[in-house]
Amino acid sequence: MRGIFISMEGPDGSGKSTQLELLKKYLSDKGYEIIITREPGGTRISEAVREIILNKEYTEMSYMTEALLYASARAQLVSEVIKPAIDGGKAVISDRFVDSSAVYQGMARGLGVENVYKMNEFAIQGVMPDLTIHLDLPAKVGISRKKDQKELDRMELEALDFHEKVAEGYRKLAELAPDRIYTIDATLPIDDIHGLIIEKIENILR
Ligand code: TYD
Repeated sequence: MRGIFISMEGPDGSGKSTQLELLKKYLSDKGYEIIITREPGGTRISEAVREIILNKEYTEMSYMTEALLYASARAQLVSEVIKPAIDGGKAVISDRFVDSSAVYQGMARGLGVENVYKMNEFAIQGVMPDLTIHLDLPAKVGISRKKDQKELDRMELEALDFHEKVAEGYRKLAELAPDRIYTIDATLPIDDIHGLIIEKIENILR
């Protein structure tokens, strides 16, 4: 039996981690074996790459290098964790996946969505989410939430204009793949968002 793969996407500060935890509890209460992961990261090597990507000292990083580093962290995560878990019939929930690269590097950095998916073909080995939850939020709200929680990393330190392109980019991507990407207003109360997510998943599992 093939497992299920769900990714959570959205601008920084959209509440992905909170929803991911709630979803994990819901699915494990239902008896699913769950693998939770995040990008960039989720394996020893990918976490080491994450340290390089998000290090705010590396202001000289080219957009192409950035895109390739995200793809390399992803390649390791797919082969070490995601693919074996799906093949083993588990439910995988990932905090971000290849759509993050399509939006952040393809749209906001301007490398082009097609180029970025193409660059990632090698890394993902045909693995795509069955469902992508897109938490939609105005860029300003997301970044001010982040500022209150932690020290900002290299990506979060980008100007507001960049984060606006990200928020808008996700909306465009969701329009391009309406069957896979489900958009939810992330300004709604936490429990309401969770309710919408499980309703959607119930429909898919049925
Ligand atoms: P994330 O782990 O969601 O940040 P945090 O732990 O601070 O909430 O993501 C790290 C950053 O990397 C985030 O700004 C989005 C960015 N990113 C990309 O630009 N491209 C990608 O492919 C991925 C996976 C993330």
